[in-house]
Amino acid sequence: MEKEQHRSINTTNGSLDDLKYQSGFGNSFSSEALPGALPQGQNSPLVCPYGLYAEQISGTSFTSPRKLNERSWLYRIKPSVTHEPFKPRVPVRGKLVSEFDKSNSSTTPTQLRWKPVTVPDSPTDFIDGLYTVCGTGSSFLRHGYAIHMYTANKSMDNCAFCNADGDFLIVPQQGRLWITTECGKLQVSPGEIAILPQGFRFAIDLPDGPSRGYVAEIFGTHFQLPDLGPIGANGLAAPRDFLVPIAWFEEDYKPGYTIVQKFGGELFTARQDFSPFNVVAWHGNYVPYKYDLSKFCPYNTVLVDHSDPSINTVLTAPTDKPGVALLDFVIFPPRWLVAEHTFRPPYYHRNCMSEFMGLIYGGYEAKSDGFLPGGASLHSCMTPHGPDTKTYEATIARGNEAGPHKITDTMAFMFESCLMPRVCPWALESPFMDPDYYKCWIGLRSHFSYEGMNAKSNDLKNEHDGSADRATVVELISKTML
Ligand SMILES: [Fe+2]
Repeated sequence: MEKEQHRSINTTNGSLDDLKYQSGFGNSFSSEALPGALPQGQNSPLVCPYGLYAEQISGTSFTSPRKLNERSWLYRIKPSVTHEPFKPRVPVRGKLVSEFDKSNSSTTPTQLRWKPVTVPDSPTDFIDGLYTVCGTGSSFLRHGYAIHMYTANKSMDNCAFCNADGDFLIVPQQGRLWITTECGKLQVSPGEIAILPQGFRFAIDLPDGPSRGYVAEIFGTHFQLPDLGPIGANGLAAPRDFLVPIAWFEEDYKPGYTIVQKFGGELFTARQDFSPFNVVAWHGNYVPYKYDLSKFCPYNTVLVDHSDPSINTVLTAPTDKPGVALLDFVIFPPRWLVAEHTFRPPYYHRNCMSEFMGLIYGGYEAKSDGFLPGGASLHSCMTPHGPDTKTYEATIARGNEAGPHKITDTMAFMFESCLMPRVCPWALESPFMDPDYYKCWIGLRSHFSYEGMNAKSNDLKNEHDGSADRATVVELISKTML
């Protein structure tokens, strides 16, 4: 078969718009780019069809319970091991962290916010444009997470990236990503997310040039769909809307091809003379995948109060404690607000979890300004936060007659974790750090008023002798709180 035919199996005129995918979450998938390439009846025949090598990639220990066990079998032209020794990458990339401690990060309970970072003019691919903002734990100890951002303007050239530390959840904010993986190709546009599990080799092309986005990396676990509890069997992210690549391969001779391996937060390189995207067929449940956030089916209050943000969980990476997430991926999509006599924006709160937020497009309901697409904020464990002054005042001014209102053209998200993050120095010292963030709340004034309480409690007051002295009001307040 002609090499060119191989390349064109899943692409049309160089575009990925017509890519085909497999649908589902956690399925046992299978795909072959050539008929009969997938061995039947066993995983590792003495000689595989087409003379392919069989290679397993495991995402969980061999003995993990079946419901958690993830692995795939790849049938490839040459096995991954066919490369020269790994060497430290030069120049050293110093802004990636996978084991957080005092030497590379610091703690602060202060509310932090960053303006959108400018995409550099100098040629920068996804690897060089990736930097850690915050995180905690250790990839060595298989517990923790890192939150990164990237700004890049050029496709990866003759190289592939492999992350031995954890799974990437990529949230593009500007520019599409064309991601070639060992299982096939993904096109991921802003408004979609991609999950690239630990160990998979991938290359990212940037068809739109300047690109920017967010990345959550989790150590020692994988993302799951959240339980739906009383919601029932349907709602939130539907399994069928998760899309998995179909097999695609290339067999070209590629002298000097480089595998860049992130291992313990450090980058290593190894040379080989062929593409790692030489998997002709594969099967298994350990796969890269993508999800279109516009497919999310949000649930919310239909009478009173603001629901906890967990109602909008797309994916969750669990800890061993039931209901406690190493990292939840939560979105705030377009939706109707209908609650009666309710403060509709997010309530003021202090959370035992830590919250990193980003904005893909539009505005966010709790911030009238200052939180921009491509920007970010971090509210760590027990750090108070909530709507800014303008949002509070505007909401109160609308009163109880606000009526149903649809939030449109927006997509904010949150990475929420039970683990407290440490923040990297380049993030704290970034020129894009907003030193005035605290001012969005500093203007919140007291609305406390005995007169107001009197007005709202006329009926109650009439039960008394009509006096409105302080003692009476305090008594009334106590009575209404019972
Ligand atoms: Fe929050």
